[in-house]
Amino acid sequence: MKNQQLAETVKGWLLEAGELIKQRMKNSLVVSTKSHRSDLVTNVDKEVQQFLVERIEHFYSNDHILAEEDGRNYLPNMDGRVWIIDPIDGTLNFVFQRENFAIMVGIYEEGIGQLGFLYDVVKEELYWGGVDIGVFCNDRKLLSPKNLGAKDGLWGMNGAIYAQNIGNVQKIGKESMGVRIIGSAGIEFISLLKGNTVGYISNLYPWDYAAGMILVNEFGFKGSFLDGSQIDFQSQEKFIVATDVAYGEVMKNVVNF
Ligand code: IPD
Ligand code: CA
Ligand code: CA
Repeated sequence: MKNQQLAETVKGWLLEAGELIKQRMKNSLVVSTKSHRSDLVTNVDKEVQQFLVERIEHFYSNDHILAEEDGRNYLPNMDGRVWIIDPIDGTLNFVFQRENFAIMVGIYEEGIGQLGFLYDVVKEELYWGGVDIGVFCNDRKLLSPKNLGAKDGLWGMNGAIYAQNIGNVQKIGKESMGVRIIGSAGIEFISLLKGNTVGYISNLYPWDYAAGMILVNEFGFKGSFLDGSQIDFQSQEKFIVATDVAYGEVMKNVVNF
């Protein structure tokens, strides 16, 4: 199986990248700002991305890469095979908490998700899988979480979107069992896969949702931009993903965006 072989290769790279991060965490980080004072990038984000890009370019030279750092953050289309990389998702957590961050890689062919990888380096939990494979945490196959309604579980939210009630999302929070704000899209997707939350709303770039969407799709979750339009891997957008039932309920009755 083509995807299975590729998955084994990528898992090996991610374990190496995780070791690199753990080594670098023993020393002080070099932190710089990007668009504003809380939009950070570290030497480790850049090094992890370079490590992955070098391998892809060496072993799969016909493929395309969309990645957050170093001027690789735009692709005009999803033609061919595309690797979408967030070298460290949750950089603020990485800098201030030294946990609650993930390496994320999604592999698409002609715009169709094939393989997704979310690596919680500190917990040493690599969530991976995709088409013809299902979803695993390390070597353990995961069962699909229950298809719960919006009111029957916790929601992950982006703090600013929730505080500003963008799209009427506070109503979702009030009617649900509660809201959690973690600060890493990757860790939020992991929560969905584990059945810890029923939905997640945030303001995401393509590399924030590419890997996670492939995995949650295997379990029948639904995702889109908050206005209901399809994800398109172009720019930062308000984004929602939830169980099939919860997605239908909130998009029909609650979200107004
Ligand atoms: C960010 C995190 C955060 C989300 C932001 C992302 P980064 O990614 O996933 O939870 O709210 O929109 O940009 O910058 O730490 O890779
Ligand atoms: Ca990110
Ligand atoms: Ca990042």
